[in-house]
Amino acid sequence: MKVLVIGSGGREHAIVDALSRSPQVEKIYAAPGNAGMATQAECVAIRETEIEALAAFAKEQQIGLTVVGPEVSLAAGVVDCFTEQGLRIFGPTKAAARIESSKEFAKELMAKYAVPTAGFKAFTDFEEAWAYVSARPFPAVLKYDGLAAGKGVVIALTAEEAEEALKDMLLDTKFGAGKVVVEDFLTGPEFSFMCFVSGEKVWPMQLAQDHKRAYEGDKGPNTGGMGAYSPLAFVTEEDEQYALEHVLKPVAAAMVKEGCPFRGVLYGGLMKTPDGVKVIEFNARFGDPETEVVLPRLKSDIVDIFCAVADGTDTELEWHDFATLGIVMASKGYPGDYAKGVEIGGLDKVEGTVYHMGTKAVDGRVLTNGGRVLFVVGKGATVAEAREQALRDVKAIECDNLFYRADIGHYVLD
Ligand code: AMP
Ligand code: GLY
Repeated sequence: MKVLVIGSGGREHAIVDALSRSPQVEKIYAAPGNAGMATQAECVAIRETEIEALAAFAKEQQIGLTVVGPEVSLAAGVVDCFTEQGLRIFGPTKAAARIESSKEFAKELMAKYAVPTAGFKAFTDFEEAWAYVSARPFPAVLKYDGLAAGKGVVIALTAEEAEEALKDMLLDTKFGAGKVVVEDFLTGPEFSFMCFVSGEKVWPMQLAQDHKRAYEGDKGPNTGGMGAYSPLAFVTEEDEQYALEHVLKPVAAAMVKEGCPFRGVLYGGLMKTPDGVKVIEFNARFGDPETEVVLPRLKSDIVDIFCAVADGTDTELEWHDFATLGIVMASKGYPGDYAKGVEIGGLDKVEGTVYHMGTKAVDGRVLTNGGRVLFVVGKGATVAEAREQALRDVKAIECDNLFYRADIGHYVLD
């Protein structure tokens, strides 16, 4: 089978890597792909949002399966477009992807089906939002409703911060006209529970934990994620079972009842609060960088899973026992401004796996080409061993303009 992967980051590199382990795969294309995948996949110069061009390519090349990485493609309707043309694709429709693209849709669905999450209220008017927020305890959790690339959530510690954020979101419409969801503030460690979902069928993946803050000790600004590891010792089997039975399965069933059955990866961003596991957010796709530590642990043939989800048939998942831990190497300045085009050396010296997140190949040299540049994954019998390998590999990579967090996994290790 010929397979097409849509996307250009570390997540898509990990998907390409998993596909390349399948004996069923004859050829992999990646659109637009990146320098790291180029050894396993042929990169095609079509952007993630060029839906018609992607469908035309899939038809022309007789692609048997297309796998969607990023949310922008889902929000642009890539799955609807492919499905209408009879092309097999792994991912949710635009209507089902609202579980990620609309905070209000997700919160109302959870309220209707009694899925445990923070209490909330939605606003479009600044004065009303401000009256509500200023009369409640701080911190205040303010979420801009819509895709804001991880930058739409503000945890305001003071009234001044909250007022400023609400002004940005509702008066200055910095992100475009929209709504704000105000939530109760929850506490506890967060973890990511991704499941393959096809209608009411739910196949859980291994758990992972992301590290969203830029600097060690979970300090600094929020980012797309600075590192991840799997499995998670702090989430008990009981917690996991609870999340599956009270969150992921009911949500899959609810999406069917609401007339927008979900097919793809349903990602539960969960928190282990003193009152039990609760939902912080849903994503309608593989997490990045969680995918880069979870898929290497998958023993089953991923093509069987993708096809079962897309076709609504059955499958089974098997996992390796080893642990994985991955460290992001990001451009200095990220998540703010950063330089691009800085040469990277030492990639041939690493023992583990390196997924490229934002690189570019120019005349045989690999250059930085994004905020998050590389994802270095270590493997071991334990998370501690996996971290040792990842740290050794990070140190083998030579580049003047990259930084990383040496404390990934600190919640269980330090
Ligand atoms: P989200 O984009 O919804 O995942 O929010 C980004 C981050 O904000 C989460 O990973 C949490 O760390 C934090 N956060 C979101 N909602 C809440 C909440 N209700 N209580 C406490 N922290 C939250
Ligand atoms: N790692 C968080 C996300 O993929 O949204």
